Amino acid sequence: MRIRNEAWLKRWEGRPPSLPKASWPDRHSPAVYTAMLRNHRREARAGRMLPLAVFSDGRLAGQVTVNGIVRGAFDSAYVGYWVDRRVAGRGVVPTALAMVLDHCFGPVGLHRVEANVRPENAASIRVVEKLGFREEGRHARYLFIDDDWRDHLSYALLREDQPEGVLRRFLAARG
Ligand SMILES: CC(C)(COP(=O)(O)OP(=O)(O)OC[C@H]1O[C@@H](n2cnc3c(N)ncnc32)[C@H](O)[C@@H]1OP(=O)(O)O)[C@@H](O)C(=O)NCCC(=O)NCCS
Repeated sequence: MRIRNEAWLKRWEGRPPSLPKASWPDRHSPAVYTAMLRNHRREARAGRMLPLAVFSDGRLAGQVTVNGIVRGAFDSAYVGYWVDRRVAGRGVVPTALAMVLDHCFGPVGLHRVEANVRPENAASIRVVEKLGFREEGRHARYLFIDDDWRDHLSYALLREDQPEGVLRRFLAARG
């Protein structure tokens, strides 16, 4: 699915600049994916990450990942997400992200979840707007994406922002 979605995903996804440049299919080889899965499982077991799959109509459709979980006085994390172009525009990611946020603010016990989005990414900005994230600022040259350091707008949602629940509020607003 990700190889088929190269044109759809590549301009929004970062890679470490220290790694040699690799083609999109090479970045999605079974070996790379196996290593990524191993890393995700290790990070999840350590409580630093929630790597989650998104299903739509019973089929794998994308991912929502909660990264950089820091506990203590911070209790914060940031999210990343993508969906198969074939199911885009149906509210799949905002619905999935709303469920993930309720999980983060509930059982996981986080206080703050952040999302960083390129200013050019109108669809992703719509996702955080629909869920009531607050725009907090702009990070200059924040992530290495598409062969350069790219500015990002920073959005955040706090546990106390939506005591009624993020999914409940989103569904009620959608009618
Ligand atoms: C950003 C993204 C995750 C949104 O997921 P989604 O499930 O399509 O979200 P929504 O259905 O709420 O649509 C969001 C916006 O996408 C746009 N959109 C709608 N239909 C679309 C389509 N068929 N194709 C592309 N964009 C579409 C609209 O602007 C929509 O906002 P609206 O509902 O106010 O009209 C998805 O576009 C995606 O995977 N993009 C590529 C990866 C990416 O940008 N990840 C985020 C990095 S920060």
